[in-house]
Amino acid sequence: MRDLLITGIGRLVTNDPQRDGLLGIVADAAVAARDGRIVWAGPEAQLLRELRDLPEVGADGRAVIPGFVDSHTHLVFGGDRVDEFGRRMRGETYQQIMEAGGGIASTVAATRDTPTSRLASDAAGRARRMLGTGTTTVEIKSGYGLDVATELRMLEAARAVGDVTPIEVVTTFLGAHVVPPEYGEDRAGYVDLVVEEMIPAVTGLVEFCDVFCDAGAFTVDEARTILEAAAAAGLGLRLHAEQLAHTGGAALGAELGAAAIDHLDEATDADVAAIAQAGSVAVLLPSVSLLLGSPPPPARRLWDAGVPVAIATDCNPGTSYVENMQLIVALATLTAGLTPEESLWAATRGGAMALRRPDHGWIGPGSVADLVMLEAESHLEIPYRPGTDLVRLVVKAGEVVVL
Ligand code: NIG
Ligand code: FE
Repeated sequence: MRDLLITGIGRLVTNDPQRDGLLGIVADAAVAARDGRIVWAGPEAQLLRELRDLPEVGADGRAVIPGFVDSHTHLVFGGDRVDEFGRRMRGETYQQIMEAGGGIASTVAATRDTPTSRLASDAAGRARRMLGTGTTTVEIKSGYGLDVATELRMLEAARAVGDVTPIEVVTTFLGAHVVPPEYGEDRAGYVDLVVEEMIPAVTGLVEFCDVFCDAGAFTVDEARTILEAAAAAGLGLRLHAEQLAHTGGAALGAELGAAAIDHLDEATDADVAAIAQAGSVAVLLPSVSLLLGSPPPPARRLWDAGVPVAIATDCNPGTSYVENMQLIVALATLTAGLTPEESLWAATRGGAMALRRPDHGWIGPGSVADLVMLEAESHLEIPYRPGTDLVRLVVKAGEVVVL
């Protein structure tokens, strides 16, 4: 049943640009969905008689917001890196561990050793917890296979998450995460493999191609070669850029018209201006900065320059084993300088823009009926009560999936 009527909503966050304020809040509201899409949202006193017959859920004055759109995750992986977390907490840096052969390379080894069924069932467990905490759409990247067969197995596992849970999955190919150990110094050989074998193999299976363009990963020239091949194959572009060091990835992303440029901790004012000009979405990952002990991403600077900002978990076993977008809203507010309203927008509408899903992340006629009812009367309680799960009910495409 994908028809639903929610009445008695104390505050409805619509994100509808046709309404007042950033969040387009409607008081004493109702929202109606048919066939998985919103057909009507507004003050309940104006609810049309014909919509009264839809299956009804009462909100008893609680707040309703759009489902979270987690636009940057590495949800499929083998093993874990809890030992490295301990080493970092005792003073080793992420880069030192990476240079010593740990980091991404250790998850690559574990992922290659894990059967696809186990990759899929572990990722589905994470996705169910995400759904339970209000995430209705999640982007999932490959990038821990780094050979054709394992990259394809990761994408198969990512698609399985969408088949066995109600969460909507958007897949991204990240074959250019790091150069795998068996290529040694032959970086050009690996770039060739990505361009000549991997991109053709994943075309038709994924929407986006991502590159980790940073110190210890891929150079700007290598990233350009890969992203130009991906664009020619019809894939949308995203980058991990300016996270560990400033290398020029953000400017490249802006030049190529990337859908999203992510991390951006080290972005300069010139980068910010270029991103604003290009219209790319900045996907900021405040839990990564926190867990690596580095300063928060420059959310305020990007927002004030007019860049559409998204916030995401970056769920991965190395830098951010975080599944809960409510925590990300709290961190963006408490550490990165966004207001509570801006953080909530970035976690919903901003995420949808980063994934090029114009009908997600807002509530109004024609949008997908992805809704979260909070155990609170105000949406502002999310950053106000960090660590408390405030989700009471989750609706995905008009269906109640978490009660
Ligand atoms: O987004 N920055 C690159 N990739 C991940 C980290 C992956 C890992 O450490 O396993 C990130 O932070
Ligand atoms: Fe990432």
